[in-house]
Amino acid sequence: ITTVVFFYLCCAFSFVSNAQEEISRSQFPSGFFFGAATSSYQIEGAVLEDGRGLNNWDAFSHTQGKIFNGDNADVADDHYHRYEEDIELMHTLGINAYRLSISWTRILPRGRFGDVNSNGIMFYNKLIDNLLLRGIEPFVTISHHDIPLELEDRYQSWLSPLIQDDFVYYADICFKSFGDRVKYWITINEPNLFVRNAYKMGIYPPGRCSAPFGNCSSGDSETEPIVATHNMIISHAKAATIYKKHYQAQQGGYIGILPHASAFLPISDDEADREAANRAMAFSIPWIFDPLLHGDYPPEMRLCLGDRLPKFSHEERNMMKDSLDYIAINHYATFYAKDCMHSTSESGCHAIEGFMLTLSENNGVLIGERARHPQPTGTTPVLIQEVRIKTLAHLFCLSRIRAVLYVRRPLSVSISAKELTTAFPSFFVVPYGLEKIIEYLKERYNNIRPMFVLENGMAQADEPVEKHNELLQDIKRVNYHKSYLASLLRAMRNGADVRGYFVWSLIDNFEWTSGYKLRFGLYYVDYLTLKRTPKASAKWYKDFLTNGTHAE
Ligand code: NOJ
Repeated sequence: ITTVVFFYLCCAFSFVSNAQEEISRSQFPSGFFFGAATSSYQIEGAVLEDGRGLNNWDAFSHTQGKIFNGDNADVADDHYHRYEEDIELMHTLGINAYRLSISWTRILPRGRFGDVNSNGIMFYNKLIDNLLLRGIEPFVTISHHDIPLELEDRYQSWLSPLIQDDFVYYADICFKSFGDRVKYWITINEPNLFVRNAYKMGIYPPGRCSAPFGNCSSGDSETEPIVATHNMIISHAKAATIYKKHYQAQQGGYIGILPHASAFLPISDDEADREAANRAMAFSIPWIFDPLLHGDYPPEMRLCLGDRLPKFSHEERNMMKDSLDYIAINHYATFYAKDCMHSTSESGCHAIEGFMLTLSENNGVLIGERARHPQPTGTTPVLIQEVRIKTLAHLFCLSRIRAVLYVRRPLSVSISAKELTTAFPSFFVVPYGLEKIIEYLKERYNNIRPMFVLENGMAQADEPVEKHNELLQDIKRVNYHKSYLASLLRAMRNGADVRGYFVWSLIDNFEWTSGYKLRFGLYYVDYLTLKRTPKASAKWYKDFLTNGTHAE
């Protein structure tokens, strides 16, 4: 099976290596930020040190059966003790920006219900100061999937409006403590992805869901993601209001929120499929940005969900109005959308769309539905049964899709959807999807705000120790970034005001539910010794950034 998966992944990525486009740093504007990103829980470790309180992930990862292999991030990359070494890695790469997140419970071990932990403030002061000494601009996320456990226990965190006050209280401490040096604030990382995983699928803490979405003992998959998102958007707006009122003029920074942003393209030219793609998009990024830039949830969502979507009060609308200084996205994947408005559904307003997946538009691998998508010549169909694609826009679409995987060369063994998605979970590599999504944002929001790509990256499945050297030769990752950068450049040449691109991730780290099984880093981390070793992609990035020309 491993061989088959490996073969499959090779096919999947073979097109990327065909990318012919030459890119160089000099093609980007001079002040462009080239960075790398991480988050506190995924790299810091030291979870019980210097007064840090427990968070939602500490509890979840220590609950049996929640994380692959029983992994947790108690030690992770031990960045808490090795931050200086990691800043040296950044310096070696030549990046001029680094995206980090502050651990909420290092600053407020018990949220609003306890004291500020001065050790936590000290740690981030040192981190930020050292970055600046190296000429690296810190982009700082206030909450990257982490919440004090106390807030979960007291009032169910994001499900309660009480969280808004906690978030603002915490954000205010961050602005006050670090805002003299931090100019780029991200309030909440991937609210849309987090709510899907936490409240629809039940695979992130607090692990809530209802059948048929997941296997949880509590929760309501249809309403809780909407409620949690609503609280996140208002929390963002309230924090931004405080920032703008008390800090921005004096500190001169910018504030934004960061959705997970997949691209959705119609699987055919049919009007219905084009509308399906449009709905899929609306249920993803505009879910977060429309309220902040247009004052309400996307009309596409309202049309479908009606009163199931909460309303914003007059006061909230006023707060939201001026709460976004830039438009930032994390981008990993592109999906085909297919209309399923008329398919059978088990509940309410279903049928946002059905998704087909593509791994390549031109070479070798395509997943399409047999009936709608002709089989490319020279390919062998392999039936994947019951592919249930777990994207956010599927929140209300319960239909299951039977899909066919086409490969150029015959596979001797069929590959199941489960195997397909565990090695590379739901991230389908289509570089031109980035161009599409930037175009989409440019159009939808009139290019009125600068844009950033604050995450883009590729996972490798971990290998047994004896094969670790192979992981260092990550030529596919090099090609991945070259292709995505070329795609970004096309969008910029077409007028999009993009100011930065960040690789996820600087170093291999704890990949949430997948534990240490997936490696996204430019640097390989040996989890026994915690030694960092540059992969081929780190060498390529350094070369790209320092020589100004692209290198093979
Ligand atoms: C987005 C998340 O922000 C990050 O935490 C995660 O590790 C990467 N995607 C890869 O899945």
